[in-house]
Amino acid sequence: MEQSSLKKQSSGNAVEEIKNRLDIFETVSEHVLLKKSGRNYWGLCPFHKEKTPSFSINPEKGIFKCFGCGAGGDSLSFLMKVNNASFWETIVTLAQKFGIELPEAGVTSANTELKKQILEVNKQAAFYYKELLLENKEARDYLLKRDINEETIEKFNLGLAPGSIDGLIKKYDREIISKTGLSSFKNRIMIPIRDEKGNFIAFGARALKDSQGPKYLNSPDSPVFNKSKSLYAIHQAKEAIKELDSVILMEGYFDVIAAHTHGLANVVATLGTALTEQHVRIIARYSDSRRIYLAFDSDEAGVNATNRGADIIKSAFSGLGDIKHFDESFSDSTVKNERTACEIRVVTANTGKDPDDFLREQGAEAYKQLVKSAPLLIDYQINRIINLNDRSSSPQDKARLGKDVIPLLAEIRNSIIRNEYTRLVSERLSIDEEALNIEVKKSLQNIKPGESSKKALTGINKEEKHLLAQKNLLSLYFLNNEKFAPLCINNYIKEVELSDTNLNLIKKNIDEIVENFNDSDKLFDELLIKLADNEEAKKVLTDLIYSVDDKKDMKSDLFHRYIMDHIAYLQTHSVFEQQEKLRVSYYEDNRDDMSSSRHQQKVKELIKERRL
Ligand code: CTP
Ligand code: MN
Repeated sequence: MEQSSLKKQSSGNAVEEIKNRLDIFETVSEHVLLKKSGRNYWGLCPFHKEKTPSFSINPEKGIFKCFGCGAGGDSLSFLMKVNNASFWETIVTLAQKFGIELPEAGVTSANTELKKQILEVNKQAAFYYKELLLENKEARDYLLKRDINEETIEKFNLGLAPGSIDGLIKKYDREIISKTGLSSFKNRIMIPIRDEKGNFIAFGARALKDSQGPKYLNSPDSPVFNKSKSLYAIHQAKEAIKELDSVILMEGYFDVIAAHTHGLANVVATLGTALTEQHVRIIARYSDSRRIYLAFDSDEAGVNATNRGADIIKSAFSGLGDIKHFDESFSDSTVKNERTACEIRVVTANTGKDPDDFLREQGAEAYKQLVKSAPLLIDYQINRIINLNDRSSSPQDKARLGKDVIPLLAEIRNSIIRNEYTRLVSERLSIDEEALNIEVKKSLQNIKPGESSKKALTGINKEEKHLLAQKNLLSLYFLNNEKFAPLCINNYIKEVELSDTNLNLIKKNIDEIVENFNDSDKLFDELLIKLADNEEAKKVLTDLIYSVDDKKDMKSDLFHRYIMDHIAYLQTHSVFEQQEKLRVSYYEDNRDDMSSSRHQQKVKELIKERRL
């Protein structure tokens, strides 16, 4: 990092020149058919599959944003993303294209070089391991017992890490081997993990013998590998995911291997970690309808993973523009042109087995049937509660049961569907329908307290609201309002604490340059140059620009109010956060005495201090 930022300085002018030569319309037009509408142009997003355009460019500001998948940035960001290239690779290519000379040091960054080396070593190691596997009887027998034949070994490039790393050390220098983490794999079946483009980014490694622990090891995170952003077999599954417009998500490597071997090609798995929003975004790029089948193990851990995974998926899609609905039960019929954002279904093999076992015992057709009849998430969750509690009969039992099921019902936005489910549940559990309905309605009101009064701050939860408040404030710098020039806004916002790293970085940069660039457009251009190689920050900056339009018509007197309300909100929020922290730490120190006056006093002091 250190090195690369030094290099950036020495070639800063060249980067700036390259940036100035790039035109967002020209850059994007090479890849996307654009149509003008208003001040912006619109087209089909090249970063995820879609049928109606949600990708837009703003030629005045030289930026793009996709309201479907959330991608955004300037021309450089676009080129990096569309070519899957690093910042420096992109700069080097463009310098050549424009005939701009780069200072020697800027030609390759140390990081790009390291990434290349790791990928190359991983790839060669994968083939070396495969050779070793093919000639090792014990390992071949182990796989044969799992119904994995030579064809499958070839398809997934499976291998064997021997008991000693001498063979690897002869080929590569130790430093590179240590960066890849390969030396920790001994006597293990090696499962190469490849990225969307097929690069060998890491390995999963299964113990060959049961006596040997842990059962699985993964490569450590490295410049080319991040567990929480990688999906096993995405490289092999992506075409099928597009074609079938759906993805099946499993838990284990061997589940995926078995699935592909049995002709289910749209199957991927996380790498022994919980599902993350980043995983979901990868999936969303390939499946237009975002139809996701959760096919985790049917043990208790699997059930928990299903529920957590479903929450992550919902939350991931909540962030994508104004799409917030999950399968048709969650869509709101009063909103026009509503599109279904995603559909979550749950595949369970009720034998208590994982998909690998099921497929080997019962075959492909039986599994396909399970997928075909997989219930929607809502049905799965409601059914589980009903089935687990079939024999509960006392009024108290029923009230407790109601508590589990009410939040599920309240989440359904479409009132016809909600009422229908409420009726079904009341029948199955023999609970009075009217009573259940009343409780669901109460719960509904809790979900959206006073929504209309604070329209500017409607977020799903506290964190989102907090983030939105920060974004709202920072976007004001780019409003181009005569009465509220950047410097003036800076006076208001100077002391506000920002919790988000990228917003904080943007704000810091603004603080540094606002004196010299007291004009929204110039401030923005300068920020883009300062943040040229920071994709995350540029994306956030793009979001800020795109959110300016909502605020354009604000009257001056309201403007003042708006800023003050937001500042007040952020201050109260941080008081709230600290109160919570204090409460937790205090509780831990002093379990018996939660109501002690010392504690109350501390909270009061804190509130006073923060509100001043
Ligand atoms: N896993 C892991 N570390 C472990 C155990 C599991 O990283 N010690 C991850 C692996 O990615 C594994 C997945 O969790 O594929 C599922 O684990 P599990 O169900 O225990 O393993 P199976 O896939 O069923 O493995 P096998 O069939 O080889 O026993
Ligand atoms: Mn298994």
